[in-house]
Amino acid sequence: MRDPLIESNTQANRRSFIKRGLTAAGTASLAGGLLANNVALFGREDDDDDSSGSLTRGDAAMLRFAAAAEILETDFWVQYNELGGIPDNEVPGGSGNPIYTAKLQNLDSDFDQYIHDNTDDEITHFTFLNAYLESKGAGPVNLERFRTLPGSTATGSSGKLRLTNLMQLTLDTSWWTRYRSGSNNPDLDPNFKFPQAVPDLSKGQFTAIPRSDADLSPDAHIQAIANTAAFHMPTIEQGGNSLYPAMAQRATSVQVLRILVSIGPTETMHFQTWSDKAGNAVSSPLAPLTDPTNGLVFPNLNAPPFGGPRFQTNLIMPEPCPFLSRKLPRVSIIRPTKTQGIAMAVVNFLTSMGLFLGQSEEFFDVLRDLAEDADAARRET
Ligand SMILES: [Fe+2]
Ligand SMILES: [Fe+2]
Repeated sequence: MRDPLIESNTQANRRSFIKRGLTAAGTASLAGGLLANNVALFGREDDDDDSSGSLTRGDAAMLRFAAAAEILETDFWVQYNELGGIPDNEVPGGSGNPIYTAKLQNLDSDFDQYIHDNTDDEITHFTFLNAYLESKGAGPVNLERFRTLPGSTATGSSGKLRLTNLMQLTLDTSWWTRYRSGSNNPDLDPNFKFPQAVPDLSKGQFTAIPRSDADLSPDAHIQAIANTAAFHMPTIEQGGNSLYPAMAQRATSVQVLRILVSIGPTETMHFQTWSDKAGNAVSSPLAPLTDPTNGLVFPNLNAPPFGGPRFQTNLIMPEPCPFLSRKLPRVSIIRPTKTQGIAMAVVNFLTSMGLFLGQSEEFFDVLRDLAEDADAARRET
């Protein structure tokens, strides 16, 4: 049977080969779907309530990219849950690390519950997206063969292999000032440099989880690790917060649009929660804090030279900013939401934070391939 994902040139054949491997489990169901319904991926699904029919190639590609991103999100959230969350039937694995958990709870006594619930959300995101793809005769995403990275060996870790690396992160925390800016929007000012909230996190490589029990002391070191997690969490979630509305603009099917605009705001709820918790790592009494092992500093953002509307920690609502045109009034919005190249921008963002350090070339090929396809999606009318 002809795979409708196969294109004609050599580059496309290489990509299709990777993709067939990636979605091998889905190929059988794709074939089954094609035989049963005599529909192809190029078909249309226009009825919001109709559960039959098929997806346009672009819609399938955007959902597939979202599924991949959610699988990767799930992988690192599971690592957080094993050590600092609440392992249970909903989010199995690991047994908790009391010292790390206590340091996270210095930021909010409910931190473990929030980790658990965020992890549960991500599991349902990728599971739903894959199930929906399959229900439309399109291949789901499976990244299990890239589960090759050793994770934490600290008390509480399940010790299983991982897709993502939480132990060498370089974090761009400029979202902090981006959402506090009333005059700049990255979509209108692509070259504007929003200042970092925690400048040190953007320079070195830092672990967000105890790598082993050796990381559980001294006190300021494991607190700095918990603080790094507290900044990693909103840094990631604000990415999803932009990804979904950016992709939604190119959905053809109303049902796919509905999926994107229904999952996207849950990422925003995650971001909002975590941006509030991160503020507790950079305010009194925890801040300022210096990690004695590597010099990583978490400044007090409410004190000079910080403070003011760009840094004050309780300014967690999105400041109104220019949108679409400076001729229009400022408005409180998610930003950026520009749709062109959003999937590849997310891949680059996650890669440059070190989340995939140690992954194979093939892993990056697959990820870039999924992003290229998602970015090629066009809204069909
Ligand atoms: Fe998600
Ligand atoms: Fe999320």
